[in-house]
Amino acid sequence: MKIGISYADRVCFLGTLKQDERAIASARSMQYTHLGSTGMQVSRICLGTMSFGNSEEWMVEIDKARPIVNRALDLGVNFFDTANVYSKGRSEEIVGELLKDHRDDVVIATKVRLSTGEGPNREGLSRYHIMDQARRSLKRLQTDRIDLYQIHRWDYATLIEETLVALTDLVRRGMVNYIGASSMWSWQFAKALFTSDRLGLSRFVSMQNHYNLCYREEEREMIPFCKDQGIGLIPWSPLARGFLTGRYKRGGKTDTPRYRSDKYFAERFFRPEDFDVVERAEEIAKEKGVTVSQIALAWLLHKGICAPIIGATKVEHLEDAVRSLNVKLSSDDAKRLEEPYKPHRIIGPLPVPESAS
Ligand SMILES: NC(=O)c1ccc[n+]([C@@H]2O[C@H](COP(=O)([O-])OP(=O)(O)OC[C@H]3O[C@@H](n4cnc5c(N)ncnc54)[C@H](OP(=O)(O)O)[C@@H]3O)[C@@H](O)[C@H]2O)c1
Repeated sequence: MKIGISYADRVCFLGTLKQDERAIASARSMQYTHLGSTGMQVSRICLGTMSFGNSEEWMVEIDKARPIVNRALDLGVNFFDTANVYSKGRSEEIVGELLKDHRDDVVIATKVRLSTGEGPNREGLSRYHIMDQARRSLKRLQTDRIDLYQIHRWDYATLIEETLVALTDLVRRGMVNYIGASSMWSWQFAKALFTSDRLGLSRFVSMQNHYNLCYREEEREMIPFCKDQGIGLIPWSPLARGFLTGRYKRGGKTDTPRYRSDKYFAERFFRPEDFDVVERAEEIAKEKGVTVSQIALAWLLHKGICAPIIGATKVEHLEDAVRSLNVKLSSDDAKRLEEPYKPHRIIGPLPVPESAS
């Protein structure tokens, strides 16, 4: 895959385009950054693929996913996130099929932990489940290595030592390049990192957590901790599942497929104070002549995260997200965006079981 075009080609190419197309074309010079302290570079927009599959009404199958992935590659996106559980593995299959001809130019991230079926050993972070699922993910992804293998939550039933030894073995066998983690309590992540250091095991390089303008609880502990430890921050649902696009209005119609069929959407956002935030973003978007989603993503980038993991069911969603790389926010803009926020109930980490607390 060719990422970027020559300067001369670019000048000639830009001259023939309308203004809106120009913004997109200039985004061909995609921004890349190191994933945390690693030497591996990822695009500052990661394409999340939970929306690829068929387990819920709002998702899209391969015919609709193909143009999104092709456009992402064309715009220089090299970072793709999936999970073994998304549509029972269908998301990984779609990602594998669509990226197989670009394997050496992309960074593929997937996950293990959540339930894959009935019965014991079908979930969690035991050596048994990790080894089994890594093999299955590699098969579905049509590849010989996972670039970033993430634990999809903490497992209260397995010692972190067992998990880290299994993950380290995958790295040593070349089946995994780096390991990462997703939503958990900060004390758990700290325990995992010091266990790796204590035992000389692979260390998590990234944190995929829930962070957006409407959900900022991670600013209390996790984000400063990750910055201190050189962990790459790759937040999920950076647009609050579509709420931070401005398409849902206070007291307005909510009848979209995602609202109807994404069981978490309605219960997580749509509080009056969430509308205060989105309306402030709308105000700033209008002043800058950009979209609300671009403001929401530009704010995350301004906060020093590595790459937001965006969701898309249309090519335009992806193009809009890539345009956010050209939106510059001042500290004053950020202050105004943050001002209406009210604390939110915790969304992300699994609760500590009563037996453990
Ligand atoms: N680790 C975890 O536990 C976890 C949890 C959740 C997600 N994730 C990851 O994060 C990724 C993104 O999650 P997400 O889908 O919730 O992300 P999101 O970026 O917050 O929301 C994406 C949705 O917003 C809407 N949207 C995006 N751009 C738009 C635009 N310009 N105009 C109007 N609507 C727009 C679309 O909704 P419609 O499709 O309704 O049009 C799109 O599906 C997932 O694919 C997955 O990889 C991880």
